[in-house]
Amino acid sequence: MTDDAHAGGPAKGAAEEREPSRPSERRRERAAQRLDEVDAAGLVAFPSRNLQYLTGFAEEPGERHFFLVVPAASAADPEPALLVPALYETQVREATGVAEVRTWSDGDDPVAATRDLLADRGLDAGRLLVDDTMWARFTQDLRAAAPDATWGLASEALAGLRVRKDEAELAALREAAAVADAVVGDLRALGADAVGMTEAALADRIAERLTERGGRGVSFETVVAAGENGAKPHHGHGDREIRAGEPVVLDFGTRVDGYPSDQTRTLVFGGEPSEAYAEVHEVVREAQAAGVEAVEPGVPASAVDRAARDVIEAAGHGDAFVHRTGHGVGLDVHEEPYLVAGNDRPLEPGMVCSVEPGIYLDGRFGCRIEDLVVVTEDGCERLNRTDRGWE
Ligand code: GLY
Ligand code: MN
Repeated sequence: MTDDAHAGGPAKGAAEEREPSRPSERRRERAAQRLDEVDAAGLVAFPSRNLQYLTGFAEEPGERHFFLVVPAASAADPEPALLVPALYETQVREATGVAEVRTWSDGDDPVAATRDLLADRGLDAGRLLVDDTMWARFTQDLRAAAPDATWGLASEALAGLRVRKDEAELAALREAAAVADAVVGDLRALGADAVGMTEAALADRIAERLTERGGRGVSFETVVAAGENGAKPHHGHGDREIRAGEPVVLDFGTRVDGYPSDQTRTLVFGGEPSEAYAEVHEVVREAQAAGVEAVEPGVPASAVDRAARDVIEAAGHGDAFVHRTGHGVGLDVHEEPYLVAGNDRPLEPGMVCSVEPGIYLDGRFGCRIEDLVVVTEDGCERLNRTDRGWE
């Protein structure tokens, strides 16, 4: 910022005490402090969930160079800056509140613009953290723009911030979960009408309902996995028709204010399932309840996995539970904390995670039951509340 920019503005002391006006501004300040704690000079994000977290601006990555630079709080010039394609200028100024927005136009050299920005901020020779998901072509260009810098991953500084959700984030996650719950109700109401539909047709129906009930899009490819397809945990959906009396794994979500839902129910349409399936369903339901029961602050993430897995192992299906018990949920549908063997990170209030044990019997069927929970001061709150039965 130039001296001119201060002329007539608030005194420096007043500016320092000013409350950040947007959640993303507060997050940039905390990120800047974290950068000092991890001995990094700054971070560079590109269109990603990290950029959305730090600016409020959501965009898919594209071929044009689009960078957010956040210097450490102790930097000589700690003001964050954006370098964006010129066609985005108005959008990012309105959406982000980032004071410095530099642009480059089609036909310009974006690597030169990047080099200038990093050099102007004294970041061309420090340790820089880049977005974990940044496309390789952009990390290569950053290396070319700052050949003397050393590199790490942005999650070093950001994962610890993003893992605990603030009230605005929790409100969005609760609402997104409520939309998904309502759509589970719609699916149960379909009953025998679902028999004969293809998995893909039912996935389309789910997407329509999610939007009608207030969600925005789907938060990941909808899983409608009928019969033997249910034994593939991330089957997606295809042309297979749904038959009466077979289990169908239904795993879907939407977004509200950018935050996703992710829940699974396994339902049987138009009849009763086999006795073998009904038994498996009951084991998964007990395992899911045991997992949720284990969620409380201070408990290692791995203990939740153990609690759910114990139930499934005791029923003789340990080998058929082929994934971790859960994952954190925030702007990314899968993020820390992972509820998995070996992750002894203690759970903390404000963390949100899925609890989703399953049993997958190749060539026969699958069963998964998934709810999101938020860790509270003395236990957890389920965000998904609909019945967990197959009916
Ligand atoms: N749906 C199970 C997992 O990805 O963890
Ligand atoms: Mn999940």
